[in-house]
Amino acid sequence: MVLGEDGRLLASSTVEHAPFGSPHAAWAEQDPEDWWRAAQGATRAAIAAAGVTGGDITSVGLSGQMHGAVLLDDRGTVLRPSIIWCDQRTDAECEWLNRVVGPERLLRLTLNPALTNFTLTKLLWVRTHEPEIWRRVRHVLLPKDYVRFRLSGEHAIDVADASGTLMLDVARRQWSDELLNAVDIDRRILPAVFESPAICARVTGDAATSTRLAPGTPIVAGAGDQAAGAIGMGITRPGAVSATIGTSGVVFAATDRPALDPRGRLHTFCHAIPGRWHVMGVTQAAGLSLRWLRDQWYGGAGAGASYDELTRAAAAAPAGADGVLWAPYLMGERTPHLDPHIRAALVGLGAHHSRAHLVRAVLEGVAFSLRDTFTIFSELRIPVERIRLGGGGARSLLWRQIQADVYGHAVETVRADEGAAFGAAVLAGVGARIWASVDDACDALVHTAERVMPDPSAVPIMNEQYARYRRVYPALKQLSSQKLEVRS
Ligand code: XUL
Repeated sequence: MVLGEDGRLLASSTVEHAPFGSPHAAWAEQDPEDWWRAAQGATRAAIAAAGVTGGDITSVGLSGQMHGAVLLDDRGTVLRPSIIWCDQRTDAECEWLNRVVGPERLLRLTLNPALTNFTLTKLLWVRTHEPEIWRRVRHVLLPKDYVRFRLSGEHAIDVADASGTLMLDVARRQWSDELLNAVDIDRRILPAVFESPAICARVTGDAATSTRLAPGTPIVAGAGDQAAGAIGMGITRPGAVSATIGTSGVVFAATDRPALDPRGRLHTFCHAIPGRWHVMGVTQAAGLSLRWLRDQWYGGAGAGASYDELTRAAAAAPAGADGVLWAPYLMGERTPHLDPHIRAALVGLGAHHSRAHLVRAVLEGVAFSLRDTFTIFSELRIPVERIRLGGGGARSLLWRQIQADVYGHAVETVRADEGAAFGAAVLAGVGARIWASVDDACDALVHTAERVMPDPSAVPIMNEQYARYRRVYPALKQLSSQKLEVRS
């Protein structure tokens, strides 16, 4: 994406990556070279479409998926495919961390619990299972930081993305030496940590040739997709909260102190704004629930029903889907259950129910799952004054209304719905002093497009359904603890 100095979007371009590989159930891996190929192509195309030259670009910002581990040797060669954010193979490593470091000490040092998503667990897995690769590791980078490395030759990371590694002292915004010593990870393999708007690298001559940027162009640290997306939606100060439904679903609140959930159900991370933090709850399969329904049951992309057709059909069912409930645990669940093994369920079906009820139940179930995070916010007294919606879930009017009704709160969309790329460009502009601060930039650039009010007749029905929804997980948990015996 190319932004003008007045914050106007001049051009953007998208290049797809190959889908992630899953060599075993619950594994997820991608080739970092593919990210670099896509980043070069998208940068060239966006510069051309904006009608500018590389010399006109004052600075570059980066954002990307969080938590993945890119392992490099001493020559900068990638040693194995990146184990990415949603990979669930590291259960044993989480147990090891809880045994060796202890859950309380982990929480004290990093403000977060051991979760399979976090980068440290992936490093420990490689150390145990692929010692010949681990011996050669000299640098660990996160996905967007590998793109920076190819652009500049620098090993750098921002505080927001570093928070999702489980190696950062999130309160002090620096690597935790105590934690690294406890798990015997050499700090020298980790990148240097910067605040998100800080300039930390410059484009090399080679990268300039392949991207059409100019050599020497400054690169700011940037942020992981959630913190950058929040900047793009103006979620900067306490009271501002976003609910984003992409593949995963995230409820994100800006805070001016590191607000810790003593039970570790929320992630407590640095924000992409110096001196601020954020908390977020994550639903593993949010948009993924609808995609799964479409792909597996309604003919798939192309030949089958479109998302628009599905959500139009769902509008024919009443609020509460006539009692049908969807528990969206297709990929286990993070908030609030921290349970990678739980599985999804559709509950309460009768012969009188139609496809409309089914789709509506899925849209509502995802919103109930996001409401779980709001429930924890209210326990922890994290203020919620304004809720902004993002991601694909914000594009459907029905899903916006369902969210307003389930949260019992007005929800807003913003005018420039460009997600994390917009946030990264804003951070680049702050680094280049086009705006004095991230707050100033967001106040100038991010504006409400539409506000949806909760429907007073739907809210009590949604409250009742939410109370029923909360009883589904314990029942599923009990079922999943009883092993299936197959007799021949
Ligand atoms: C956040 C998270 C996702 C990934 C993939 O914790 O896991 O936002 O970064 O987008």
